[in-house]
Amino acid sequence: MNKQVLYSFALFSMFALFFLFVGCTEIPDPQTPAYATDLTKEDAEKNSSFADLFPLQYQTYQQLKAEDFDIGDGQMTEYGGSIPHAKHLCGDLPQAYKYCQPYLKNLWLGYPFSFEYNRARGHANVIHDILDIDRLNRYGEKAGLPATCWNCKTNKMPGYIEEYGDDFWAKDFNEFREEHDLVEHAVGCNVCHDPVDMSLRITSVPLDEALKREDKDWRDATRNEMRTLVCAQCHVEYYFEHGEIGVAAKPRFPWDLGKNPEDIYEYKKGFGITDREGFEGWFIDWTHAVSDTPMIKTQHPEYEMFHDSTHGAAGVSCADCHMPYTRMDGKKKISSHFQTSPLRSLDAIEKSCGQCHTGHNPQYLKDRVIYSQERTWDQLMIAQEESVRAHEAVRLASEYDGEVRDNFNELMIQARERVRKGQWFWDYVSAENSAGFHNPSKAIETLARSQKYSRQAVQYAMQATNYGIAPDLEGDIYEIVPPIEEHSRELQMSREHLDSHEWLGYLPLLEEAELMWDLNERIR
Ligand code: HEC
Ligand code: HEC
Ligand code: HEC
Ligand code: HEC
Repeated sequence: MNKQVLYSFALFSMFALFFLFVGCTEIPDPQTPAYATDLTKEDAEKNSSFADLFPLQYQTYQQLKAEDFDIGDGQMTEYGGSIPHAKHLCGDLPQAYKYCQPYLKNLWLGYPFSFEYNRARGHANVIHDILDIDRLNRYGEKAGLPATCWNCKTNKMPGYIEEYGDDFWAKDFNEFREEHDLVEHAVGCNVCHDPVDMSLRITSVPLDEALKREDKDWRDATRNEMRTLVCAQCHVEYYFEHGEIGVAAKPRFPWDLGKNPEDIYEYKKGFGITDREGFEGWFIDWTHAVSDTPMIKTQHPEYEMFHDSTHGAAGVSCADCHMPYTRMDGKKKISSHFQTSPLRSLDAIEKSCGQCHTGHNPQYLKDRVIYSQERTWDQLMIAQEESVRAHEAVRLASEYDGEVRDNFNELMIQARERVRKGQWFWDYVSAENSAGFHNPSKAIETLARSQKYSRQAVQYAMQATNYGIAPDLEGDIYEIVPPIEEHSRELQMSREHLDSHEWLGYLPLLEEAELMWDLNERIR
């Protein structure tokens, strides 16, 4: 080797080393491939407009759609899956499921969630599923819930925001029923992609605004971050702003104090207008019919649960597991848009997890997921039962006619605050759709907190009555307060139904009415 060659070689090696140690982090972030479509904003509201342009992505998205909306053709996994059923009913599919949560109707009594709450399934069914649910009033002109609910269901949101701006949210949900096609407008391409070049985008106003409050802008996010942020548009906790404080019925992500359940609980001590003693100014979703407690409801906090998990911290994205690269027609690799449980088959686990867990076989990974889920589920059941006992203790104490403590009122405020808190932490894990897998240790911690607060509620209520109510709380909770199995808007129109369970007796009788809406059609 002559001197010059040696010199060049040394220089080359130095460069190579430089790039190895320093340059790696500077390699530009890969981009979602750019396309040029000539779709208009109107075209983009329909999923089928994308079918010819992106047949492979479209085909995988179509796998999400149930053959028959009512029965479905999905598949269950040990704790998850896609066959619709009521989550409180215990039994067999299709109406019920072996892992049921028998007290859901009791815990949400007085709130539309107690009328109907079902398992989530794939995006392509979402318009059907929201139009078919008893939480929205289908017996009257008005749904009783705001247009905000459309925010996470429809391809039409960008258009609505352009047309109505912040006047959209507080309109009545039913105003937009008839213009929705069950398939075309379901959460699809337009929600996550700019239809012109197919780059990933955020169309959700509340996510855009929450990021701004953190001094972040999704337009500066890396590709990897976007592969999670597009999901964080909807798979998050949120609440509706009050008109006197913000924009009426506008969704807001309660992240300003942090994304943990404790932070969000603290945050919700603001943004309400109640003058109820002990809860002045706190945010309230509804007041529990039996314990008269100002409650908050958790909504599917997948993103918050996941963000600081082992996978979240390591920079794994939602799309890594739920949209694995898939070879189609034996050749082209695409991101699978069959966004569903990765546990449907060992082959699916291999695709979703195998890219990173090369040393583990799919059966091992599946067993590890179920190991976490089983333990989460056991604690979830205990937390649920403690919450029911807490409501019952407060009910008994508030109706107790023996001698009470001097500071009865104060103790009862403490008791109700712990009922609210215990149920919040229970619901945080209950509403999170992975049964603990997205962050096993946080799920267990959250349930431990729930159990602690609910037990404190019982303690405060017993103290308030000088332990006068204690004998009534002894024993099996399933005998003290049986689970409410049947309840709906229609049933609440019947006195007989309200007399069938002690807790139902606290509900007002609804005026008799007939169904006015059948899915997207007005029938009366
Ligand atoms: C490391 C892989 C992984 C990541 C990352 C991940 N998930 Fe999951 N997800 C799972 C597994 C495993 C389950 C449990 C599925 C089951 O029980 O059948 C699950 C369950 C779910 C479910 C419920 C599915 C069902 O069958 O009911 C939803 C919804 C979900 N994840 C959304 C998300 C979102 C949103 C993100 C990002 C914020 C995310 N996941 C990140 C692996 C992952
Ligand atoms: C819930 C969000 C979401 C929806 C809905 C969605 N996509 Fe995607 N799409 C993604 C993500 C995430 C990627 C991966 C992008 C990346 O890795 O940069 C992607 C990638 C793509 C790509 C790039 C090539 C590839 O396969 O990675 C195309 C093309 C595409 N999607 C088309 C569609 C079409 C057509 C629809 C409607 C039928 C659709 N998408 C619906 C989130 C979504
Ligand atoms: C615009 C709102 C929205 C966005 C964005 C969104 N989802 Fe969903 N997702 C939903 C709703 C609503 C459901 C429940 C639909 C139903 O039950 O009909 C759902 C259901 C699911 C399920 C359950 C599927 C099953 O087979 O049981 C999974 C998994 C899921 N989403 C993952 C994701 C992932 C991953 C992303 C991001 C790539 C994402 N979602 C983005 C609203 C959204
Ligand atoms: C993009 C890469 C990636 C993907 C995809 C991925 N993982 Fe992981 N996983 C990791 C990393 C990184 C760790 C942390 C390992 C470590 O630090 O040793 C981890 C840890 C784990 C652990 C142990 C920690 C815990 O939380 O219990 C389990 C179990 C696990 N993964 C299961 C899965 C399953 C199941 C899937 C598919 C549904 C999956 N992973 C997909 C990267 C990934």
